[in-house]
Formats: sequence, C-alpha cells, structure tokens
Amino acid sequence: MRTVREPAELQMAVRQLRRDGMEIGFVPTMGALHAGHLSLVEIARRRGALVVVSVFVNPTQFGPGEDLDRYPRQPERDAGMLHEAGCDLLFLPSVETIYPPGNATRIHVEGAARGYEGKLRPGHFDGVATVVTILFQLVRPNFAVFGEKDAQQLAVVRQLVRDLHLPVEIVAGPTKREPDGLAMSSRNAYLSPAEREAATVLSRALAAAGDEIAAGERRAAAIRRRLRDELQTEPRFELDYADVVDALTFQPVTRLAGRVVIPVAGRVGNTRLLDNLQLELPGESGG
Ligand code: PAJ
Repeated sequence: MRTVREPAELQMAVRQLRRDGMEIGFVPTMGALHAGHLSLVEIARRRGALVVVSVFVNPTQFGPGEDLDRYPRQPERDAGMLHEAGCDLLFLPSVETIYPPGNATRIHVEGAARGYEGKLRPGHFDGVATVVTILFQLVRPNFAVFGEKDAQQLAVVRQLVRDLHLPVEIVAGPTKREPDGLAMSSRNAYLSPAEREAATVLSRALAAAGDEIAAGERRAAAIRRRLRDELQTEPRFELDYADVVDALTFQPVTRLAGRVVIPVAGRVGNTRLLDNLQLELPGESGG
C-alpha cells in the first residue's frame, strides 16, 4: 500500500494503477477506522478493483460546537489496518490541500438532505457533498462505497451524483455491528461503560420494529409508536428522531412499501448515535 498526501502524487499513482485497465474503487472515510470501514474496503476488493481510501476529517461538515477538535485521529493505526485489509492507495490530505486559502465553493443538496440530520445539523450535508465532490474529482473512481450506517448520507450522495451527472457508481455496504447489536462507529469511543450499555437500545428498538413488520404491520405510524415505546425504556437515551422514510428520497412515508429505511437517532450523554433498518418490501414505495 502506498500513502500519498498531495493531489499531484495521488493522480500520478491512480493513473499508474489504471494503466493496466483496472477499475478504481474508492472508500472515503474520516479515519479512526473500525471493522465497518474495512468491510467497505472488502466490498471494493471483491469487485476486483484497485482500492483507494481517503482519511480526512472534513471540517466543513462539522457545525460550531460539534466534535471537530476531539474527533479521534490515529493515521498511523489507520494506515496499518488499511494495509492489512488490502487497500492499494491511502490518500491522507491536509485541510489546506482540500480547502486551499481563498476557496469559496460549497455544494448545497436539497431533496434527500431535507429533514433529520439535515435539520439537526445545518450545513452538515453541504460539507459532506462538497468534500465528496472534491474527493471524487481528485480520485476519479469508477465506483465509491458508502455505508448504509449513514443512510441519509448515502441518499444525499446518490442525489448529488444524479443531479451533477457525476460519472461514478455508488455502492452501498451493510452496517457492521458489535456482538450486542450496537452499530460500529468511530464515535462509540466517546461512550463511558454505562453509556455503552445504554447505546444498545437503538438496535433493540429497530429489532422490535423489524419483528412487527415481519408479522405484517405496514402502517408507519404504528412502527413509529413501537420504536418510541422501546426507546423510552432506556432513560439515558434522548431521542432526536425515529421515523419511516423512502430509501431514495429520505422523506417520510405513511405505509411501508418498496425500499424503506427506518432511521433512529439520539444522544446518550454527549454522544450522538445513529442507526437504521433497511427494508425491501413488496409494493410501490411513496406516500
Ligand atoms: P466516516 O464516518 O468515517 O465513515 C466512512 C464510511 O464508513 C461511510 O460511508 C460510513 O457510512 C461507513 N461506515 C461507518 N460505520 C459503519 C458501519 N458500522 N458499518 C458499515 N459502514 C460504516 O461518513 C463519513 O466518514 C464522512 O461523512 C465522509 C463520507 C468520509 C465525508 O467526509
């Protein structure tokens, strides 16, 4: 595995890799890697592609008062894990490289970015869309792999790629979990032991909702109620939202049909936690 920090180096390395007619698969990350990130690398590898991973804590997607300063940074550990996982090229740019002095362009996504994280974290998805566009432009991958863990981000990236006609295929990877169900996240490192235990309420609530759906429930209101009841059993958990949305538009639905996502988000102590259930049900989605 090679590590590069400068766009010129990156482009030269990518050009070399591509010369043999190989596809380039790209996995953008903010580092502090875990098995969830590595599963996306594995998806790219299984497609027979040369794998480029970026590790960049993107300042423009953090709001004022968010955790930009304390976000875990461990580039050497990350590099070791990526080498082991079969990554071919690690892109480790500085903030000044991605956002040189005088930069003044931001990408604003509507549609899938409306509501939920978009509402609670104003400007967050503009920051994500901007850095993803810059990284796509630098790496020029054939496809890029994103986790279903961040379901709204995935919908926003798909919206971005559609709207700007970006020549990149978006591939989704399923959520990797700890043995007790907690979705893996770099932010789980913030949790105290008691908070860590409380955090399992998200996956428990989603499992309860999944059981109701398996038993035939198709009314979104009933699923929302079930989620709230389950989430309320954990006093340390403060709910931001729990809803049923269309997977593509990320807007609420009244009946479960087609591809739907059940996103749940909230806080345990000072740590924000996100999880979701992805479903493919018979019938037309929407409404
Ligand atoms: P980060 O939170 O580091 O996540 C990088 C990628 O890993 C994202 O696509 C995310 O959905 C995926 N991921 C995180 N936890 C996962 C899990 N438990 N299982 C499977 N995949 C998981 O998301 C970002 O960084 C940034 O917003 C980024 C897209 C890099 C733009 O800055």
